[in-house]
Amino acid sequence: MLRPCRSVLYIPASKERALEKARELPADAIIFDLEDAVAPEEKARARALLADELQREDFGGRLRLVRVNGLETPWGAADMLSFAAHPGVDAVLVPKVNGPEDLDAVACRVSKPLWAMLETARGCLNAAAIAAHPRLEGMVMGTNDLAKELGARSRPDRLPLMSALGLCVLAARAEGKVIVDGVFNAFKDEAGLKGECEQGRDMGFDGKTLIHPSQLEVANAVFAPSEDEVALARRQIAAYAEARARGEGVAVVDGRIVENLHVATAKALIEKAEVIAAQPIAAGAI
Ligand code: COA
Ligand code: MG
Repeated sequence: MLRPCRSVLYIPASKERALEKARELPADAIIFDLEDAVAPEEKARARALLADELQREDFGGRLRLVRVNGLETPWGAADMLSFAAHPGVDAVLVPKVNGPEDLDAVACRVSKPLWAMLETARGCLNAAAIAAHPRLEGMVMGTNDLAKELGARSRPDRLPLMSALGLCVLAARAEGKVIVDGVFNAFKDEAGLKGECEQGRDMGFDGKTLIHPSQLEVANAVFAPSEDEVALARRQIAAYAEARARGEGVAVVDGRIVENLHVATAKALIEKAEVIAAQPIAAGAI
């Protein structure tokens, strides 16, 4: 199993203090951002600062993604050159991917694995082809850009975005790629964040992108299997083994059937819980 991506924190590459803080924060992954979180006049300084920081610092096993500017901007080519083979970077995150050809254009400049932002209408419609790109490892929903392009209103139930979110989860799962949900903008609203994390988790997302350290604890907890879920999974595995020993193919636990597919889900859940518990950085919470 890949490492968990419950909490994926954006850090503007221009903010020294935030970069420094990153080393002690319990994020499963960090997106060092050169794109939307960095003002045009800061782009060059942020690029140099980040290259230096990633060279010098150990981020303790956290997945390190660098979000570059697009090739259509004045900064994209230089960003890609700086991080194409940087030893402190695990993958390059490409913004506003509209189709697999956008990844081809980056793939020939960058030797790292690629991740794609899905944040345009065209990109979401082409999600299956993007997910199938051989260099792609993961996808990140860019819900702010997507809502802007759709003319969609922000609603707690995210109904206006649901078809796009669902399509992208389908695409990621069809190709066995990681997929992380978009950000929750109101970073002081913990209950709102929890609700949106639970919604994303229930849809099948691996985790949530975050904008502030205060959001880490909620995402880490929501996207980790709970103790009750692990206990149920163990009971399902045991009950199924007993049923098989009796020559039967179906067990019943808490009034629900358990078949081999449920056992596979139960085993995957336990494995995920074990991987999280074994992480060097902050297992469950802060
Ligand atoms: N990553 C790491 N550390 C962060 C952080 C982040 N994304 N956001 C804030 N911090 C740090 C601050 O440096 C500060 O550290 P300190 O108190 O030890 O000096 C601490 O957390 C508290 O920050 P706070 O004062 O509450 O926030 P702020 O007003 O400085 O910043 C935001 C608020 C939203 C502007 C800031 O969180 C941010 O820039 N987030 C990322 C935005 C982004 O990347 N957007 C692009 C993708 S949508
Ligand atoms: Mg965006």
